[in-house]
Amino acid sequence: MTEYETIRVERRGRVAWITLDRPEALNALNAQLMHELVDAATSLDADDAIGAIVVTGSEKAFAAGADIKEMASKTTAEMRDANHFGPWLEFARVKKPVIAVVSGYALGGGFELALMCDVILASDSATFGFPEIGLGVIPGIGGTQRILRIVGYPKAAELVLTGRRIDAAEAERQGIVSRVVPAAELLTQTEELAAAIANKSLPALVAAKAALDGALETGLEAGLALEAEQFTALFDTADQKEGMAAFREKREPDFTHR
Ligand code: CAA
Repeated sequence: MTEYETIRVERRGRVAWITLDRPEALNALNAQLMHELVDAATSLDADDAIGAIVVTGSEKAFAAGADIKEMASKTTAEMRDANHFGPWLEFARVKKPVIAVVSGYALGGGFELALMCDVILASDSATFGFPEIGLGVIPGIGGTQRILRIVGYPKAAELVLTGRRIDAAEAERQGIVSRVVPAAELLTQTEELAAAIANKSLPALVAAKAALDGALETGLEAGLALEAEQFTALFDTADQKEGMAAFREKREPDFTHR
């Protein structure tokens, strides 16, 4: 497996765990971490032995944002020419389910990274926010677009324009996180949830994510057509035959992920 310096990658059954590992910078997302994370996620996406990817940080920080020290002296031309945040688009294009597991700070780019994932599990210690406005910039890796689609305009505007931090309970009330879990139970609940997802049929997981993602891009009519297409295409998979046979035979399905 590729050696990384800013992340750790582990496989546990059909679940891959990516742990952000720059403790000295509260997992600030510098270019190296971005490239390593994108590389790991895209390789795992192409690996049929993996059904779901967990992305997590440390107890103190999921990630405290893009690396401010790395970009502080850049000019507009330099940021544009280097396509500084461009590779994040590849992370957002991962086809398999990605679960963000957030403890501590998820600020700026860290919050945006969590929002690129499909499910967000938060420890009761988690803190979310977009501090960029206080740095004289704005969210730059999808924050304005993704938060608005979740919480609606007025709430999104308040968060982006003030930089106010919210705790896990408020994030759950706003529908930003899927579930808040006491810190002591975070690992067990993540393992259970990730395994519950990863052991489902891989073609069905990928189709479900494509249909959900499609809803963010299209109107209802086109979205319904996309869902129908994804649904119908699954009828040529071995797992659809197995899943429905298992139901009729009153047993658990044994998916082969084909
Ligand atoms: N970039 C670079 N370094 C960072 C960092 C960041 N985003 N966040 C924290 N660090 C570094 C600190 O500089 C510090 O390093 P030194 O000891 O070498 O100074 C180390 O991590 C520990 O941080 P603190 O001493 O500040 O820890 P704290 O517990 O006192 O505070 C915090 C924690 C409130 C999260 C604070 O670190 C903080 O405010 N960080 C910046 C948060 C932020 O503004 N994020 C947005 C970045 S811009 C962005 O993300 C743009 C985008 O849309 C992509």
